[in-house]
Amino acid sequence: MRKHQVVMLRPLLPEAQQKLQESCSIRIFEQENPLESAVFREWLATAEGLVAGGNLAVDEQLLAAAPQLRVIVQPAVGYDNIDIAACTRRGIPVGNTPGVLVEATADLTFGLLLCAARRIHEGWDFVRQGRWAAGEGFPFGFDLFGKTLGIVGLGRIGAAVAKRARVFGMEVLYHNRRRRPDEQELGIRYADFNPLLEQADCIIVLSPLSAETRDMFGREQFARMKPSVYFINAARGPIVDTGALVEALTARQIAFAAMDVTDPEPLPAGHPLLQLPNVLITPHIGSATIETRTAMALLTADNLLAGLARHPLPACVNSEVNYQ
Ligand code: 8YV
Repeated sequence: MRKHQVVMLRPLLPEAQQKLQESCSIRIFEQENPLESAVFREWLATAEGLVAGGNLAVDEQLLAAAPQLRVIVQPAVGYDNIDIAACTRRGIPVGNTPGVLVEATADLTFGLLLCAARRIHEGWDFVRQGRWAAGEGFPFGFDLFGKTLGIVGLGRIGAAVAKRARVFGMEVLYHNRRRRPDEQELGIRYADFNPLLEQADCIIVLSPLSAETRDMFGREQFARMKPSVYFINAARGPIVDTGALVEALTARQIAFAAMDVTDPEPLPAGHPLLQLPNVLITPHIGSATIETRTAMALLTADNLLAGLARHPLPACVNSEVNYQ
């Protein structure tokens, strides 16, 4: 049997990689800036499947270099690096991994808020530095119980975060382009964007990155927030204007920011965000548990195999070109 030509940016987890062995001939390009490489472009010329990743811009230029492509997949729910309209024009389905990462990402997102509010990360430093043993006092955090959480971008992950927040005794406001039919079931209230910014004690951003959400949080939005607000970004770095965030945190216009995503990503050494005391940053690990990353890898492999066989992808972003 002729094997399908597949190009990957990095290998999937072994369980998923194994599923592909029999029917795919896989080339893995693990270097930086693949598009500048003649070798990568040569691989693309014959590739029928592409396993992309967050840093690769899948745009007209890349698609033009890959005329044989039947399917593009990546182990992520977000696809802001992919020009979906361009893929659709070429009839190429794009597979992602929604659903399987909801609980892990909600845990990490709510965990950032809890850790920040109760200064857990600072407490560990304090103990390790011998300051507890030396009898120093540790600064108080604040209760989540009874506070108002504003969630901007309440999809599946947002709903899972809202459930956690309700169990912790928080009031939950949310803002979306469209209201959700399950507000009552989730125990959440809709708010327009500006009132949410003004009323929330904690704000969690979970919107996908798009032309509309890029720089959605800048000077004007930080100025509307309570000075005591805790601001959490677990979505995509460029949704926040990093310069404006640094200014707001430095001037204590807002109290604290916790982020699993940044712009740029990763943050280079010496970046202003790394100098601030009122910041907590994790290295984009929302979905990074063994169970979840395994499920994401397996779904990615299933999407790829389906697309290569011209069968419907189990999880397809542009369903109008999903194979029937
Ligand atoms: C990444 C994510 O997939 O799913 C997403 O959109 O941001 C993450 O779960 C992860 O960093 C692996 O690339």
